[in-house]
Amino acid sequence: MSRPAPEKRLFIKTYGCQMNVYDSERMADVLAPLGYGMTDTPEDADLVVLNTCHIREKATEKVYSELGQIRLMKLARQEAGAGMTIAVAGCVAQAEGEEIMRRQPAVDLVVGPQAYHQLPELIARTHRARGERLSADFAAEDKFDALPAERNPTGVTAFLTVQEGCDKFCTFCVVPYTRGAEWSRPAAAILAEAESLARQGVREVTLLGQNVNAYRDPDAGGGLAGLARALAKIPGLDRIRYTTSHPRDMDDELIAAHGELEALMPFLHLPVQSGSDRILKAMNRGHTVETYLRLIEKIRAARPDIAISSDYIVGFPGERDADFEATLSLVRQMGHASAFSFKYSRRPGTPASALPGQVPEEVMAERLARLQALLDEQQVAFNAAQVGATLPVLFERLGRHEGQLVGRSPYLQGVHAVADASLIGQIAPVRIEGASKNSLSGVMAGQPQPAPALEPL
Ligand code: 5AD
Ligand code: SF4
Repeated sequence: MSRPAPEKRLFIKTYGCQMNVYDSERMADVLAPLGYGMTDTPEDADLVVLNTCHIREKATEKVYSELGQIRLMKLARQEAGAGMTIAVAGCVAQAEGEEIMRRQPAVDLVVGPQAYHQLPELIARTHRARGERLSADFAAEDKFDALPAERNPTGVTAFLTVQEGCDKFCTFCVVPYTRGAEWSRPAAAILAEAESLARQGVREVTLLGQNVNAYRDPDAGGGLAGLARALAKIPGLDRIRYTTSHPRDMDDELIAAHGELEALMPFLHLPVQSGSDRILKAMNRGHTVETYLRLIEKIRAARPDIAISSDYIVGFPGERDADFEATLSLVRQMGHASAFSFKYSRRPGTPASALPGQVPEEVMAERLARLQALLDEQQVAFNAAQVGATLPVLFERLGRHEGQLVGRSPYLQGVHAVADASLIGQIAPVRIEGASKNSLSGVMAGQPQPAPALEPL
């Protein structure tokens, strides 16, 4: 990937030993994808890093006196309408920590030698606190970054973006840099769009966001549960789904809504990424296997039949056989309806890309194959368990075979049935008679739920 000309200037002053010289180079490397190029003059730097040495007390005092000078440069830049971020790294940072920010409040962040890989996150957070956006040099459209493409309403089901961006900073992920801070659309605008979709015959909306359950109405402050409750009141909008969620944002209100709101479909995509606490910590996920499982228990208590899907990454740096076995064991406990799984992909500039213990390709491939075999088995079992049940199916379109329609069950399974084309856009009971890995088949077992009369636009 070719880098654009740096938009921001970085000045690093290195004190002390060869280790520090090496670390300064590493810091410059991890900051390059955020658009920082080196400068020799602190006066015109957007970011000044003092990579300090603690070997003698005199050296520490020198750092404070240098910081006094840099503070004046920061003030001069601020007067000229530019900004400056001041970071203290190295052994003084390690030894004195927050004390530095107390003694010299112009310092924005302090980062110890063990945490250089977190510099991109720390810098991004500092920018956000000031309301500035970083223009990052990560590939803009990453396969993991994009939301599902919004499709034109087929007349039956539609995507609706309600939230963008992410503040979670998982160490493998580019989204917090490419998409910026978490941002939500006002509920009033979402409701107006949903009403218009419903008037055109849409019966199901899938609310989209990189971190959709972090949704907060910027005007009224309500969360995703409140939004779902308001959407469920719209005549004709019988089904509400949302994706993708973070376990940390799965609040009690949203869990309760799954038990109370008939329109909220019993299918939840709640990525866990790994079954090893050691790896979850290195991923900066902010949850453990235990807290995730307790959350799932609560959700299942509210809605016992809920189908759970997840994302898993194999081969995160430092993942050992035992960590991977822990992931398989978590999957066995979960019993997924379906799940996505990926080989770890090293994204330059993300904190994990600088971690030691990158896992060889063939090890990742072998782990992924084993994980996917287990997930496939679970998907087959989940589908097979529906045989004999009668499920309400929202019919979306004609099937491949004559006279056949295709729709979806509440659990997001594709369902084929022989039915009249007039049932497209209707929810009707289907008795399930067959199941494969990817879909169900059945026969009509009753009349459709009445659809609302559509008002003219
Ligand atoms: N490598 C592998 N998988 C990734 N994902 C995001 N970034 C990476 C990466 N660098 C996966 C996560 C996430 C999903 C959308 O993509 O599992 O939940
Ligand atoms: Fe990326 Fe999702 Fe983690 Fe946000 S929560 S950093 S989007 S993986």
